[in-house]
Amino acid sequence: MTDLYSVIGNPVEHSLSPRIHTMFAKANSQNLIYSKIMCSKDTFVKAVAEFRDSGGVGLNVTVPFKADAADVADKRSKLVAESGVANVLYFKNGKIIADNTDGLGLVIDLKKNLNFGLKGKRILILGAGGACAGSLGPILAEMPRHVTITNRTLENAERLVGGFQRENVIVEASSIDDLVKEPYDLIINSTSASLFGVTLALPKEIFSADSLAYDMMYGNQSLDFLGSAKKSGAAKVADGIGMLVEQAAESFLIWRGIRPKTKNIIRALGRISNGNFSS
Ligand code: ATR
Repeated sequence: MTDLYSVIGNPVEHSLSPRIHTMFAKANSQNLIYSKIMCSKDTFVKAVAEFRDSGGVGLNVTVPFKADAADVADKRSKLVAESGVANVLYFKNGKIIADNTDGLGLVIDLKKNLNFGLKGKRILILGAGGACAGSLGPILAEMPRHVTITNRTLENAERLVGGFQRENVIVEASSIDDLVKEPYDLIINSTSASLFGVTLALPKEIFSADSLAYDMMYGNQSLDFLGSAKKSGAAKVADGIGMLVEQAAESFLIWRGIRPKTKNIIRALGRISNGNFSS
């Protein structure tokens, strides 16, 4: 029997998820079809129900529906309950279950593919939207020393930080103007600024020869941030294609009980990076 999966979003036309999951299925002899569903805010709940009623097994959820996906679920994983955003839905005994594999995907990409451990590190995250919220739990579980979140709208960062206080990690919000002008070990761009053609204006002191600049965006969308990070002195830069593939592999694991190999797929999709990385 062929199982049906899909990615739901808007826009969704250029999503790489069907390609990635089809490669996973082929490499692991899994009989599945993975499609794309485009809908609007108003039709999201109906589209999920229709997909389930037509025999669908699981969905990946992308921009701008990750909060809607958390809301529509009957059952939420701890990560979804904490962050309020989900990128994975599946159906079990008539119930909709929500999970989030984005943060795990990011952390696995950093540690395994980029050889960059987070323990004891000083991290700066740009942006406080769904992409940041969905990643914070797994980042903090790695026990960095200090996480600063800076955002165009400071209140959004402050609200997010309020829900993610931990005993042994300092988690704080800051406006860009008030940022401590010292290098961070890891600077992650989680904003969607590049989708609007906006280049973030960042103090160059936050980058150093030891910094890794990581963009959750990938391909051309990451060039602005990674380019300015390099110009400001960041020795290592990487786009988010590895996060995309690793979150997909974690979704596949939830749905199929198999963790596909990812390295060759990241390579095939073409990661933008430099430095001494293994992928
Ligand atoms: P996502 O789910 O992709 O994170 P989101 O929840 O809409 O999408 O969040 C987008 C993030 O990018 C937010 O942090 C947003 O800042 P605001 O909270 O001020 O809206 C940030 N962002 C979007 N456009 C931006 C721009 N032109 N400059 C700076 N930050 C921007």
